[in-house]
Amino acid sequence: MTDQVILFDTTLRDGEQALAASLSVNEKLQIARALERMGIDIIEAGFPVSSPGDFESVRQIAATIKDSRICALSRAVQADIDAAAEAMKVADQFRIHTFISTSDIHVQSKLKRNFSQVEEMATDAIRYARRFTDDVEFSCEDAGRTPIDNLCRMVESAIKAGAGTVNIPDTVGYTTPTEFGGIVRTLFERVPNIDQAVISVHCHDDLGLSVANSIAAVEAGARQVEGTINGIGERAGNAALEEVIMILKTRMARFGLEVGANPAEIHRVSQTISRLCNMPIQSNKAIVGANAFSHSSGIHQDGVLKSQNTYEIMTPESIGLGRNNLNLTSRSGRHVIKHRMAEMGYSDSEFDLETLYQRFLALADKKGQVFDYDLEALLFFENQREEEAHYQIRQLNVQAGSSHFATASVEMQVGDEVMTEAATGNGPVDSAYKAIARATGHQLAIKSYHIGAEGGGHDALGRVDITAEFEGRTFHGMGLSTDIIESSAIALVRVYNLIHRQQQIQQKKQRILEEA
Ligand code: KIV
Ligand code: ZN
Repeated sequence: MTDQVILFDTTLRDGEQALAASLSVNEKLQIARALERMGIDIIEAGFPVSSPGDFESVRQIAATIKDSRICALSRAVQADIDAAAEAMKVADQFRIHTFISTSDIHVQSKLKRNFSQVEEMATDAIRYARRFTDDVEFSCEDAGRTPIDNLCRMVESAIKAGAGTVNIPDTVGYTTPTEFGGIVRTLFERVPNIDQAVISVHCHDDLGLSVANSIAAVEAGARQVEGTINGIGERAGNAALEEVIMILKTRMARFGLEVGANPAEIHRVSQTISRLCNMPIQSNKAIVGANAFSHSSGIHQDGVLKSQNTYEIMTPESIGLGRNNLNLTSRSGRHVIKHRMAEMGYSDSEFDLETLYQRFLALADKKGQVFDYDLEALLFFENQREEEAHYQIRQLNVQAGSSHFATASVEMQVGDEVMTEAATGNGPVDSAYKAIARATGHQLAIKSYHIGAEGGGHDALGRVDITAEFEGRTFHGMGLSTDIIESSAIALVRVYNLIHRQQQIQQKKQRILEEA
């Protein structure tokens, strides 16, 4: 057995399927790049058969990512496997992940089959997937509740059929660490060909035990851990990979196991995913919560001042915190920005230097000093803007005060036309939103509006996240500016653009159907 634990990230599949608003291809690419930069071994990019959008994002990720292996999910049926293989064929190497349920409750109630039929479907699917790649992973869905004899039988058959990785998911987050570790230990004792595959685990957090269960499985011999950054995923989520990484790193002396990922990237990846997925991180969350490294009690503060390790088992620097202190101003040239982006790990292909530089100058004029997190916020924001075109704000003016209604006037580019509108509202955001709705000609149902800050101090960038519903689908828009009214307007216009793009795709599909 090796001393390397393979990290399998499913943020873009298990994580994404739990989001209120799905991510765009561009957003998924940003996440994939961040995971690659962090050194994740396997990135599960999506479930290609589930939608044309998922297929396209897996295809683009497979074409872009070189240092991590790309994987896609498929049920144990040929059409799913064909779609996964087709989406990833641009990559030199890829993994097909196929799965079927093995617990009695799933086999009988969901699949309406008997165990032997399910075993046959699994082995047929594995053999079929092996026609496209040597790297096939098989998952026994709901393994945590599968009778152990059946689980041993399925793992043995899957390996015999050609699965190089066999995954043991605790799909409903039901097991406890001793129990789950025991399941994996039994597999090692009873499955005769187990040395021919990597045993993986995939734990959900319904009882708050996903990371503990994953670590217990590693102690029992599992050598791949699946999870997501910030633990996002179905229901209560998946095992948080940043926690798994820091447990294995911090307790190296106990486990003696290596992980390839660079922990200094954790903070940045976590922030990127939280922003793009519109999933705030609870402040006391282990490793990446805002309070994870702050000491409140006087006794603790006194201890840490005397010696850091009195109350700190790992340093904030080890996850990449506290590196935001390079101070750039409007006198900093393009080469300084380029150099700083490279130091932060961004390759030239990830941004357009001229666009980033112009935005940096505009921000530096407003803020004076610009920090790493500002640059990243600008980059993140630029990547979102790339997809926008139809609706653009040319000018927005708002008047507000305590004694009268707020009034907003807006001049917008709507396709080839310029529209000018005004509205009053019960506050500056309300009036701006009403004026924008008039200019676009569409009223949206805003489901949530959240305002926050990027960076610290009174001159932090104001960030607004909104979700809005249109024809049964939820869309997420984010706006960033030194002015929170402007951020609010940008977030709304982003949603209008996403809806417009969605409508264009639907119209195109309709035309193809009519022509066929
Ligand atoms: O939770 C689960 O069982 C899954 C499988 C598809 C691996 O996500
Ligand atoms: Zn899952």
